[in-house]
Amino acid sequence: MTEVNVNTAYYTERYRPQFHFSPERNWMNDPNGMVYYDGEYHLFYQYHPHSTQWGPMHWGHAVSKDLVTWEHLPVAIEPDANGMVFSGSAVVDWNDTSGFFNGGHGLVAIFTQADTYPDSDRPRQRQSLAYSIDSGRTWEMYKGNPVLSDTEITDFRDPKVFWHKETQKWVMIIAAGQSVRIYTSRNLIEWEFASSFGEMEGSHAGVWECPDLFLLPLDEAKNSYKWVMIVSIGDDPSYKEGSRTQYFIGDFDGKTFINENSPDTILWLDHGRDNYAGVSWSDVPVEDGRKIYIGWMSNWRYANETPTSEWRSSMTLPRELSLKTTCEGIRITQKPVKELQKLRGIQTTLLGQNINDVVKLSELDSNTFELIAEFEPGLSSGFGFHIHSASDEKVTIGYDMDLQQIFIDRSNAGENSFHTDFACKHGVELSSGNTVKFHIYLDHSSVEVFMNDGEKVLTDLIFPQQGKKDIVVYSLNGVATLKSLCLYPLRRIWQK
Ligand code: FRU
Repeated sequence: MTEVNVNTAYYTERYRPQFHFSPERNWMNDPNGMVYYDGEYHLFYQYHPHSTQWGPMHWGHAVSKDLVTWEHLPVAIEPDANGMVFSGSAVVDWNDTSGFFNGGHGLVAIFTQADTYPDSDRPRQRQSLAYSIDSGRTWEMYKGNPVLSDTEITDFRDPKVFWHKETQKWVMIIAAGQSVRIYTSRNLIEWEFASSFGEMEGSHAGVWECPDLFLLPLDEAKNSYKWVMIVSIGDDPSYKEGSRTQYFIGDFDGKTFINENSPDTILWLDHGRDNYAGVSWSDVPVEDGRKIYIGWMSNWRYANETPTSEWRSSMTLPRELSLKTTCEGIRITQKPVKELQKLRGIQTTLLGQNINDVVKLSELDSNTFELIAEFEPGLSSGFGFHIHSASDEKVTIGYDMDLQQIFIDRSNAGENSFHTDFACKHGVELSSGNTVKFHIYLDHSSVEVFMNDGEKVLTDLIFPQQGKKDIVVYSLNGVATLKSLCLYPLRRIWQK
């Protein structure tokens, strides 16, 4: 009989995500260089191959054909004489504007190299290129690196590059202190300053990092578009939220971005604590047309201390971004990519049930699941779900009618002693209207909550006891109606 070599221990360590991307071993932070090329979604990431703590950064690498299952590949880009390899992006140079591809096409990565000025300990951050002629399997550092530097700006990093059809130029958006700068280029090598954006705009609760800039259709119309700028904001001890991500909506002419909201409007992409440094995939085919985003599912406040041992950190689920006119104005909505539906096991449904106090759902033999539910608030003052991992341990995902808020309470959701700021309850306003819709994904160490078709999203890490989960539906001080509920166990994506 042929023996099938199935390594059952693979990806079963305590807290190991079962359907999220995480590196096999060691430290990971930001997603980098996400590009679709030749049938593969590439995901590079900030990686320290020698430790589970942040350190000299390399680009780790994985590929996927469906954004669900991933194949790990060797480290793609390593530090060299120009320094560590910080965050950045990758594009397909279809027309060989760079001259790297002998008239053909290939991948170009544009990233920050970090070191210090000669004979000094002042940090230096300069932008470099590497290219690949074999679908990202091997990379050549460009001999003329760095291609962009600025001796005045200390925090000058995380270039995101895209092709701007109307001006026939490459555009780079890059973080510069507490603003972003925009540069343009014809060949990815020589860059010309175009504009800067951000002074007095949005949140300045920390250094600006990992920007992105892209066009999205408004309300799924094919004739109305807006430009969206994403900017991550570093951790600052004066704010309890730690690191998080804001966005702006407006217009862009190839050189300058104009914010259409007042400068003091602050729009947060995610209202949980653990979604940072996310950007979008480049070169997704036009026929597909989606803007697909992934974030790093952690927070600089405690990222180095989370209670995992072999590896540290994972990514959020890949999400499709859209723009929608809501009662608060035009907002980004997010939904998990549809490919994830293939992980669903046998569905359990409930229809039209009045919830008075608590109702425990039937036993699930999986501890990773997707839960979709719609409530009519009725006379209740709050409703939602407790997900118990032990009798005295639960995470609550609930709606508070008085505050008109959706919240996650992870104050007693498992291990939390590694950082004093980890245990918390936090929420965001969401108008209840006639119904409130929940879409929840639970993995071994995270919960992602997409409310009202992704109008408000909360992403949180949790470190519960592993094993069976009990899902309890609750309503407080009166009856709420659970109009419908669908529960799917989710299959794991990791097999060796
Ligand atoms: C964001 C960040 C980036 C930087 C990278 C270093 O999380 O601080 O600004 O390029 O991480 O790992």
